[in-house]
Amino acid sequence: MTSGAILAIDQGTTSTRAMIFDVETRVLGQAQEEFEQHYPRPGWVEHEPEDIWQGTLAVARRALEAAGLGAGDVAAIGITNQRETVVLWDRRSGKALHRAIVWQDRRTAELCQRLKEQGHEPTFTERTGLLLDPYFSGTKLAWLLDNVEGARAAAEAGHLAFGTIDCFLIWRLTGGRVHATDATNASRTLLYDIRRNAWDEELLGLLNIPASLLPEVRDSAADFGAAEPGLFGGPIAIGGVAGDQQAATVGQACFEPGMVKSTYGTGCFALVNTGGEPVASKHRLLTTIAYRLDGRTTYALEGSIFVAGAAVQWLRDGLGLIRQAAETGALAAAADPLQQVVLVPAFVGLGAPHWDAEARGALFGLTRNTGPKELALAALESVAFQTYDLVECMHADWHTGAAGRGRETGGDMVLRVDGGMTASDWTLQRLADILAAPVDRPTVLETTALGAAWLAGRQAGVWPDRQEFGRRWQLDRRFEPQMDEMQRRRRLALWHDAVRRTLTA
Ligand code: G3P
Repeated sequence: MTSGAILAIDQGTTSTRAMIFDVETRVLGQAQEEFEQHYPRPGWVEHEPEDIWQGTLAVARRALEAAGLGAGDVAAIGITNQRETVVLWDRRSGKALHRAIVWQDRRTAELCQRLKEQGHEPTFTERTGLLLDPYFSGTKLAWLLDNVEGARAAAEAGHLAFGTIDCFLIWRLTGGRVHATDATNASRTLLYDIRRNAWDEELLGLLNIPASLLPEVRDSAADFGAAEPGLFGGPIAIGGVAGDQQAATVGQACFEPGMVKSTYGTGCFALVNTGGEPVASKHRLLTTIAYRLDGRTTYALEGSIFVAGAAVQWLRDGLGLIRQAAETGALAAAADPLQQVVLVPAFVGLGAPHWDAEARGALFGLTRNTGPKELALAALESVAFQTYDLVECMHADWHTGAAGRGRETGGDMVLRVDGGMTASDWTLQRLADILAAPVDRPTVLETTALGAAWLAGRQAGVWPDRQEFGRRWQLDRRFEPQMDEMQRRRRLALWHDAVRRTLTA
């Protein structure tokens, strides 16, 4: 066995990646593959579960090959995944009844609205820490049961299984032997009581979801069975599972209350560790499970933004302004500083703290001189502005939070960042400028996969404990704020004005 080698599978929204880490967090091999996105109607987003499964197998095999390792050399598998995305499959055949409904999908906006009008939101929020927004799994699962022919009858007969992507992959990897998920993924379903750590009968009743569909919920580092020997040439234990944002929180070693990380992928998700007690948000952040280890739950407050890297993708694929995402920073740096173009990237509505499912994207301040450079700047800056709004809410909630703690993320807050966009120095400098706080980029940018690897390595007993793992976290570069305060305030005022004009409610 190679010094605690772990195979981390990171099944994301637009691509699937496999990475093999050794215990020193060195990458021994990796592979990545994009897969097709389906947009059957405006606001709908679907994935083909077979694509996800085949892609996962392919990248895992290629990563093993790149590392020159076989199944016997790997101590365990860690799985991390796009959260909330829903798969419904038949236990008998293992086949999905429908394409997966992706977290970005807005088709259940009306159902959420109806439940709100019936006065159910406080119950959902109190139990799950979430809001009645189509983002979460529960209403998507209800939609599948009500709209796929024969689904409800099959569910009632006990033939179907529901799972988020981690759960679907565990099922497939174990040849249908294990139907389980971890507490972080369960905490995103709108069906799970995060205080009692149990599926909630009342919420299941409100959404008309039979309990027989649900997976067993385990710790984030636990025994999830083993991958079938035929898949990788020998069995490999599955020991770590967490939703991708929670895995990044672990990978960034945000183990102490008050530590904040923000990940820039398709969307942006900022989480602050709030310790052993859930903190109820007064500013429409989510209360969620950061990780559950040895039966003990650690909670987080989360701000979720639906469009971050997706704004750059839009510049590339929608407008054709760039060929590669990496060009955006240089383009933004060359923008006319006198122009005041603001992009509100509400392409799929707005997430925290507005939760406006009906809002759509808008550009403000266009002039005859506006060109690709200004649009690039507006796209990148929108990510900084949105992060600012989340961090402000965190300060407010954490200050007045139920746990009654001090403002630990206050004046000396440092934001640990990761994800594809953080390769851009320009973006991180602008982020530090707008936040007026330092931004830390670690040497390992793949913190999501690393977090999953740590969970699996811990379960296998081959990786160090939290403290030691935290000590090994390494800074690549700190970005200190440099923007003049007047200018910062002016830009924030432009942004907030633009958001006000974009909101529908
Ligand atoms: O909640 C959705 C999130 O888990 C998706 O993350 O990295 O695939 O954009 P990502």
